[in-house]
Order: sequence, then C-alpha cells, then structure tokens
Amino acid sequence: MTEPFLPFARPAISEAAIEEVVATLRSGWITTGPRVQKFEDMLTEYHGGRRALALTSATAGLHLALLALELEEGDEVITTPLTFAATLNTIVLAGGTPVLVDIVPQTLNMDIAQLEAAITPRTRAIMPVHYAGLPVDLDPLYAIAKKHSLRVIEDCAHAIGAEYNGKKLGSFGDIQVMSFHPNKNMTTGEGGAVITDDADIINKIERLRFHGIDRNAFNRFAKGGSQQYDIAYPGFKYNMMDIQAALGIHQLPELDGFIKRRAELVQNYLAAFAGWKEFILPQAPLYSHRPAWHLFTPRLTPDCPFDRDGFINAMKAENIGIGLHYQSTHTFSWYANEYGWQPTDFMNSLAAGNHIVSLPLFPTMTEAEQNRVIKTLEKLFKKA
Ligand SMILES: Cc1ncc(COP(=O)(O)O)c(C=O)c1O
Repeated sequence: MTEPFLPFARPAISEAAIEEVVATLRSGWITTGPRVQKFEDMLTEYHGGRRALALTSATAGLHLALLALELEEGDEVITTPLTFAATLNTIVLAGGTPVLVDIVPQTLNMDIAQLEAAITPRTRAIMPVHYAGLPVDLDPLYAIAKKHSLRVIEDCAHAIGAEYNGKKLGSFGDIQVMSFHPNKNMTTGEGGAVITDDADIINKIERLRFHGIDRNAFNRFAKGGSQQYDIAYPGFKYNMMDIQAALGIHQLPELDGFIKRRAELVQNYLAAFAGWKEFILPQAPLYSHRPAWHLFTPRLTPDCPFDRDGFINAMKAENIGIGLHYQSTHTFSWYANEYGWQPTDFMNSLAAGNHIVSLPLFPTMTEAEQNRVIKTLEKLFKKA
C-alpha cells in the first residue's frame, strides 16, 4: 500500500487559532485592526520590548527596512549568496547594490572572517541571514558594523525564536526581519514583521507599510477616528490583516514548543545519519546559541548514488517531499549578468547550493513519519 504524501513542511494550526480566524471573519473587521495591534504587542513583548511592526511578508519587511535607510545609487549592502531571492531582490528594489560574502561550509552562514574585506566606502549596511535558524556569529559582526558605522538588518526569516549568547534574536541589535510564511517556525498564512528600537525606522516603516499615510485604516474608520491624513512620501500596501494576526496570536505562544520539537527531530536525524558517507550533515556553531532549526539540510556527497534531481525524484517516488533551500543566488541570470558574478566567485555557496536538500521537518511530524524518512533513505542508499 502506498503511504500518504509526506510534505517537507506542514504548518501546525491549533483549533484555538482556527476559532480565532472564524471569530475575526464574524467580527466585521478583517483587515488591519485590533488583532494586528494585539499580535504586534505580543511580538514586542517576546522580543524584550523592542517594537514589532506586522507586515504582509518578510520580503516586505526587508524592503521597508532597506528603504528606511534611504540608500543612494551605488550604496552597497553586504549579504550572503546562499539565501532566498528575497534577500538580494529587496536590496536591488531599494536602490542598493548587493555585495556578497561567501558562507562557511559547516553552518552555511556568512563567513565573518571575510566580512571586513568586503567593506568599501560605499557600504551602508550588512544583511546577515540566519540560515536554517542557526544564528550568525553576531558579536564580531556587530563589532565590525560599529567600527565602520554600518547599519545591520538581520534576515531572521528562518530564525524567530533562535537565541545567541542567551538572548533571543530580535531582543538586541539594530533591525531584524521575521517571516510567518507557512513553512516557517510560526505562521500567519503569509506574513512578516520588522523588529527594532530605532524610532526613526519605526516611524518610516509605519508610514511606508500603508501608502505613506500617517494613520492606519482602523484609526480612520473606527468610531471616533478621523478621516483626514497626510502623505509625507508615497508608500506601499504591506499591512498585515486581522485574519492573519488571528493565527499569529495563537502561534506565538506555541513557538518555543515548536522549536523544541524541531530540535528533537534534528537530533534524531543527526543520530540516524551519523557516519553516512552519502551526506554532509549540518553543524551547529560552537558559540553559545539556541538554534531554531527551521530547515534540516544535508548535502549530497559524490558517494551518494543519486545526483540532486535524482535524489529528489527518488524520494518523490516514495511519496516524500524534499525542499531545495537554495540554489546560490549569485548564479541566477539577472544577478550574474548585472554584477558579473562567476559561479566560482563564491565556492562554498556554489557547492552547497548545488548539493543541498531539505528533508521533511515540522513540529507536528510524528515519530512514525520521521522513521519513514530514515527507513526510505536506508533503502535508497542500500544500508544493511
Ligand atoms: C532567508 C529568507 N529571507 C526572506 C524570505 C522571505 O520571506 P517571506 O516569504 O515571508 O517574504 C525567505 C522566505 O523563504 C527566506 O528564506
């Protein structure tokens, strides 16, 4: 009998969250309103009182955070090539020029040892990506940022709930951007947030996320609200809806439990695959941290009997979904043409991007489901 399809990710939505969405639909107010306000307050509290601004996505968050820096043509933003397209795209869309620093092969995070050499007189910001929810080494990164007077926008799309040196990402530093896409550590359907304590950035993002208007729709249309507003500069339509926040209000209290379950599942995978010559396994960094393990991404070695496409197809034939996070962004045609990047310019990212696979990992994954993945791999790799 064929087993049911096992996706590589699946959101964990409680009955309470479903009821809250239904209550929102019945409430007469479904776009940005009291539930977004409540969700922002909860996110702010979760991040040690630093202000959270809820948005339609992390992409919107990166875009607005970069726009708030008011980049000028030729201004450079440093990031890594092994990331989702949104990281580089938003730099370009905000008028900046992306500059890449390769990753370290163990964690797939930015190689901080190479960071300072990438800084030029045009550098304005550093945008580290906490890949797979493993925190980047932030102490040396912020020391370099301070030395060169650079802003830092942390791409925390994978990393809400992760900790560095005993502190939650988002509870310290400059600007952080979270994602609530369904595959992420917690979800609002689609959604994202910017976290910061910089009053100027908060002010700009509050306006930019809603057309540049200085009051949100709820304030205007609610009883007692004023219909008048000003536009200081044109903005976007990036405001989160109450329908989305209804999910977030119930997801956030569950986040720490989700992360704990992800860590257990990753430990099971690491134990099962220890010593396998077909995989290079992800390695947590040596400094003090709590990983959020958004992804579990082994790399296929030459000893693997399949190339990457063959592997993904073989698992698909077994009804198991495999993700690909990510093809190195410097190899995409627009970026290679625009910046003259050669595939071999960022060798670690190229190698990872060509051989990486994301195995199923999500908090509601059962022991039986994980054993099925492991047994299937043992079968495909002809383990005794
Ligand atoms: C590293 C990284 N940054 C940004 C994003 C964009 O997130 P969103 O889908 O919420 O816009 C993603 C999404 O996958 C991501 O993986």
